[in-house]
Amino acid sequence: MIILTKEDLCLKLTFSFGSIMLENKVIILMGPPGCGKGTQSVRVSQKIGKPHISSGNLFRENVAKATPLGEKVSDCISKGFLVPDDLVISMIEERVSRPDCEAGYIIDGFPRTVKQAEIFTQFLCTEKRPFIVLNITVSDEEVYDRLISRITCSSCGQTFRKGTFSMEDRCPNCRGRFIVRKDDNVETIEQRLKTYREETFPIIHFYSTTGKLVEVDGSGDEESVFFKVMKSLQ
Ligand code: AP5
Repeated sequence: MIILTKEDLCLKLTFSFGSIMLENKVIILMGPPGCGKGTQSVRVSQKIGKPHISSGNLFRENVAKATPLGEKVSDCISKGFLVPDDLVISMIEERVSRPDCEAGYIIDGFPRTVKQAEIFTQFLCTEKRPFIVLNITVSDEEVYDRLISRITCSSCGQTFRKGTFSMEDRCPNCRGRFIVRKDDNVETIEQRLKTYREETFPIIHFYSTTGKLVEVDGSGDEESVFFKVMKSLQ
């Protein structure tokens, strides 16, 4: 694999993407745990008809199926630490190389370290893919409130707020059972926020140097955030 410097990457981005049609664009959603990346990714995916790839969902599927990858990552996920870069990068590169991603895709939860961001940007450059990075911001208080209140469908992965449904109800979309994610407890949320600040936040600076970063205020209800997200994609 050829390693490009940051300056090479920026030049390559400036010159290679200008004339390319936007149809195969990659939309990267970033932000702290609970900011609404998953919720908004699903909505954008439905709106523009392109697949939604979530590194967290892919890991949880592997854990649920007890695959060798699932066994390697289960402990990191339940404690709020990041999975090692090499495992994430190979999983994502394999997933986004499938035919359904040819016309573009929405990706959330990846990249999450500067190393992941550098390698993924290089991958996108090699593939001649235009991309945009949306950074969704919310306060820590909002993060705790949303994650402590979250219930998730064990079958389709859709999330809801406790109170809207009881744990005994069935998912309105697929009739799946509700679960509370293992990492949705105060102690692990605290660790996830710490991990985010230390390892993921520096990527914001990395992407601001590429001119591809757009900040989206994630406060307000889902509908109003969706409006802001779609506006920033225009
Ligand atoms: P991941 O699944 O990516 O978890 P996360 O980043 O902690 O994000 P969440 O899924 O918790 O939150 P979200 O921002 O998607 O919010 P959501 O839309 O659900 O990763 C899990 C773990 O996998 C990591 O900790 C790590 O171990 C590992 N991992 C994954 N990717 C990795 C990588 N690249 N490298 C290394 N390790 C990796 O919304 C949250 C709740 O709020 C929901 O209940 C929702 O209904 C509600 N909500 C959403 N929007 C609003 C709104 N506007 N108002 C009110 N409520 C709202």
